[in-house]
Amino acid sequence: MYRLLVCALGLAGTVFGQSVDSYISTEGPMTKAGVLANIGPNGSKAAGASPGVVVASPSTSSPDYWYTWTRDSSLVFKSLIDQYTTGIDSTSSLRTLIDEFITAEAYIQTVSNPSGTLTTGGLGEPKFNVNETAFTGTWGRPQRDGPALRATAMITYGNWLYSNGNTTWVTSTLWPIVENDLGYVVSYWNESTYDLWEEVDSSSFFTTAVQHRALREGAMFATRIGQTSVVSSYTTQADNLLCFLQAKSYWNPTSGYITANTGGGRSGKDANTLLASIHTFDLSAGCDATTFQPCSDKALSNLKVYVDSFRSVYSINNGIASNAAIATGRYPEDTYQNGNPWYLTTFAVAEQLYDALNSWEAQGSLNVTSISLPFFQQFSSSIAVGTYSSTSSTYSTLISAVQSFADGFVAINAKYTPSDGSLAEQYSKSDGSPVSAVDLTWSYASALTAFEARNNTQFAGWGATGLTVPSTCSGNSGSTVAVTFNVDATTVYGENIYITGSVDALENWSPDNALLLSSANYPTWSITVNLPASTNVQYKYIRKYNGAVTWESDPNNSITTPASGSVTENDTWR
Ligand code: NOJ
Ligand code: NOJ
Repeated sequence: MYRLLVCALGLAGTVFGQSVDSYISTEGPMTKAGVLANIGPNGSKAAGASPGVVVASPSTSSPDYWYTWTRDSSLVFKSLIDQYTTGIDSTSSLRTLIDEFITAEAYIQTVSNPSGTLTTGGLGEPKFNVNETAFTGTWGRPQRDGPALRATAMITYGNWLYSNGNTTWVTSTLWPIVENDLGYVVSYWNESTYDLWEEVDSSSFFTTAVQHRALREGAMFATRIGQTSVVSSYTTQADNLLCFLQAKSYWNPTSGYITANTGGGRSGKDANTLLASIHTFDLSAGCDATTFQPCSDKALSNLKVYVDSFRSVYSINNGIASNAAIATGRYPEDTYQNGNPWYLTTFAVAEQLYDALNSWEAQGSLNVTSISLPFFQQFSSSIAVGTYSSTSSTYSTLISAVQSFADGFVAINAKYTPSDGSLAEQYSKSDGSPVSAVDLTWSYASALTAFEARNNTQFAGWGATGLTVPSTCSGNSGSTVAVTFNVDATTVYGENIYITGSVDALENWSPDNALLLSSANYPTWSITVNLPASTNVQYKYIRKYNGAVTWESDPNNSITTPASGSVTENDTWR
């Protein structure tokens, strides 16, 4: 039905939005129901899951998603907590579910697992069995976004409870759980991680962005509830994360997009970065590019480059105008389940655009910079760099074009939503039929939040307003000292040793761009690098062999450079 409607209206052009309205009016309630069905113990598709446990999907084979992922669960509960705390859904049944989620996650934090225990890194474990026992099979671990996302969800709830008189429970019960997660972020943010797609072991923009957000709001929350002893360490590491967010291995000024991962050997165009923008949206931060707000020039440029990378890889996108909405996926090189569009990534494009529209409306103007110019030129080839006030005709023209563009992404997902309204993980790149895990909880939650953004529903900010990149970011400026790194490492023929680390001069934890050491004095490998003076620099050696990357084991190596002169570091591969 939607398909016919969308086609007909699509041809008529101007009333495209109508079909989106009708889709949302039926799909909206189904997405909420779809989320709730996958939460134990009473969700209709979650029988056997413990109370408050979010099952990723009821699919138990090809793929088996009958697990609870910390990332998926936290994003899902963030959307439910937003609904509860803003009064969209203030039912006691939702409150019960949220309380069960807190209890479940508090327990899961204590479950020893292949990533460690509560105090030795176990919070980075990506997924657990739905009865809250550890999953011990091989997996891409650790994934360090989970604790940050979980803290963000819980802080949102905690702030609401604190405002509503439940201060004792917040300080004595909720806070210790949040503190575990934030303590994890403080200790491990500078270590490599698997990305949110569980494939690349490096640094990852989404992870860095959500870690930054969590520590920033964690510091405010701790201050508010009187837990002041942690505040300075949260703020210090939030500042370091904000530095790292600007790293040259993420934002690519030449091509105008954010490289999603410092490793992986791909283009780096990836929904990772759009998800980072929407999950760190703070309306009061305006279009600040420091935190890649949805309407910032960098995030808009990035959106265009990301979207365009899918125009020729999915045949269902054939014949669509080069400035119109299409189906998008995780990243163009994806081969998982054959590499298809995903509902949640296509909704993320719409959501970023709706967030941007809400920001422009709130600030009463829209700014076109040389960075965002190509994004806006899609809608008006003659548009020039400048600030357009909401009373100008250029503003109106651009706003309605962006609104149609945004609605177009919802309409694409609508077109490929089966008539029963169910949302799987993916849909076929060649015929649009559902693919991979059925009833993916995260797909439903992504629809819910995109629809809310379209409605300009506003949620609490997290302190993104007015943040400035600290002048103390290591490696930014100032004098350097020559550091010679020697490492003893036995290798096989064709295998090489590289170094990467926490500063620009060491390529910001990029296995892709890591610096090759010389084997002239084998088995000692050597390189001399100019590093910022008087700075703590963390680094690791990596091996590359036939394209495969092996990192040294944790923890990072660390050196504090002198104010001047030169130094030699003698290491042994670990
Ligand atoms: C399962 C992961 O969940 C998915 O993200 C990944 O693409 C595949 N394994 C292939 O590595
Ligand atoms: C695979 C996705 O790549 C990953 O992000 C997600 O957490 C799991 N599936 C579970 O939905």
